Amino acid sequence: MSAAGQGQNLTFATDREGTSAKPENQGQPVLVAKDVVVDYGGVHAVNRVSLSVAAGEVLGIIGPNGAGKSSFLAALGGQVRRASGTISLDGHEVSGLLPHQRARLGLARTFQTTSEFSRMTVFENLVTAAEGDTGSSLKAVVLHPRRTAQREQELVSHAWEVLERFEMTQVANLYGGELSGGQRRLVEIMRCLMRRPKVLLLDEPMVGVAPHLTGKLISDLRGISRDGLAIVVVEHAMEVVRKLCDRVMVMAFGEVIASGTFEEVAQDATVQSAYLS
Ligand SMILES: Nc1ncnc2c1ncn2[C@@H]1O[C@H](COP(=O)(O)OP(=O)(O)OP(=O)(O)O)[C@@H](O)[C@H]1O
Ligand SMILES: [Mg+2]
Repeated sequence: MSAAGQGQNLTFATDREGTSAKPENQGQPVLVAKDVVVDYGGVHAVNRVSLSVAAGEVLGIIGPNGAGKSSFLAALGGQVRRASGTISLDGHEVSGLLPHQRARLGLARTFQTTSEFSRMTVFENLVTAAEGDTGSSLKAVVLHPRRTAQREQELVSHAWEVLERFEMTQVANLYGGELSGGQRRLVEIMRCLMRRPKVLLLDEPMVGVAPHLTGKLISDLRGISRDGLAIVVVEHAMEVVRKLCDRVMVMAFGEVIASGTFEEVAQDATVQSAYLS
């Protein structure tokens, strides 16, 4: 079994507003970053930023334009090289690993959809998203036909489970190119979930989502976090941050200037002046 497959099994709670029992891992730090520095040609875009996010928690990162939020998120995912600092996932140091290696260990990040996405159905998009670690290549089919068939069955039922979780079964056979902006966003997130991640990194997930659908996306994200996923989300829309995040970290000029609940940071004078400057 792959490393990703050995990760926590995301069982989707049927109770959307979350009165159900919390998973055992709830509250354990799963992603810990210490003193991360990102340097673009001598300029510190991220200057010694640390965070700790627990299973079942949604951590928001806010801050003015150019604060270093996306650079920090990319350093966590491995898309941008960190100059110094450490990043650990479930106690394993991942700072030196490539993005796909981090993904295999359970660190997922959404990406804008590609032209390939548009040419496949939603269902095909989900099944292929998990293929990175299945080994369902021709060689595997020839050498282990029964195991491969079983794995494919698992993928198909997992894809349906994810579609049902997000109330998207009715669009399973639509092509990616036929989806609305909001549906695309959701499918990008669903593709990540096909690999059963432990941590989900999101950079401005509400961009392109119609205002009347943001509420659904917020409750879907809250739902998957309650099932044990840790989410780190960069977001500008304060209403979204207030409803979505358990905790908020504020960045300005590459540094963390405040952290706490949304209400705490919103009242912080340093934060207010950072937004005004
Ligand atoms: N690839 C790059 N090369 C050089 N400088 C960069 C690069 N990417 C970002 N920067 C600079 O690093 C700083 C932080 O940028 P970053 O995109 O991380 O900020 P941000 O907080 O995500 O901003 P926004 O809210 O506008 O998305 C900015 O000054 C930006 O111009
Ligand atoms: Mg950004």
